[in-house]
Amino acid sequence: MSMNLCLYVAADTFTETRAKGTHVVVIDVLRASSTIVQAYESGVERIIPVAGVEEATRLLPTLDREKALLCGEQEGIKVDGFDLGNSPLEYVGTAVRGKTLVFSTTNGTTAMVKAAASDEIAVGCFLNLKAVVAHLISSGAERVSILCAGTNGLLSLEDFLCAGLMVNGLVEAYHNQLGLNDAAVAARLLAASMTDIFEVVSRSSHGQYLSNLGFKDDLEFCSRLDLYSSVPTVVDGRIQGRTQSSHR
Ligand code: MLT
Repeated sequence: MSMNLCLYVAADTFTETRAKGTHVVVIDVLRASSTIVQAYESGVERIIPVAGVEEATRLLPTLDREKALLCGEQEGIKVDGFDLGNSPLEYVGTAVRGKTLVFSTTNGTTAMVKAAASDEIAVGCFLNLKAVVAHLISSGAERVSILCAGTNGLLSLEDFLCAGLMVNGLVEAYHNQLGLNDAAVAARLLAASMTDIFEVVSRSSHGQYLSNLGFKDDLEFCSRLDLYSSVPTVVDGRIQGRTQSSHR
């Protein structure tokens, strides 16, 4: 068993050619991945990640409006006219259970759309880190890309740390049968030197930005490790929810 792993520190350099033939994990700790994982756990019917507000609004009339919610942010804030923003804490209970979420965020859902040509897109963050590692191992994938959403083309500390911890999990399973690019090696070094997740998330520039907007509770929530064991995957542009009977 062997795996070749390529880590991208931001979505900008991820092209269709790079996506082809790989299993991709999109990490956007603050906050798209964390919010999607939370929404999935809360029993949504499906989530449609899109690459911008215009696309989200265009899609809405094609859906059952009783069930469909427009969700996401611009500059961290709920888009005018949208039903929900991008705080994972909004995505609980009857607000989202059984709903279809059309989800647009600046970096996170855009990264998911960019990865469309890949064999599989899994959504990962601290909340489901261990589950993502187990999912990759059991998939038997030989080529894996970890795609950090980053922030506007730049590395985000919180995504990079999350990626480093995922790489560590894979190293434990594959030992020297795991090929790593330089970014993956660097992410492991960060994970070895900065072990307090909440501290890293709070010190990150996007973490500070969100704190100033009043989203401090989101930072705390998004820092929780292995709270969930589900791995939402994007298939044909959609994340299908679990059946109602399996909801907690
Ligand atoms: C993004 O996709 O850029 C983020 O999830 C922004 C945010 O914190 O809402």
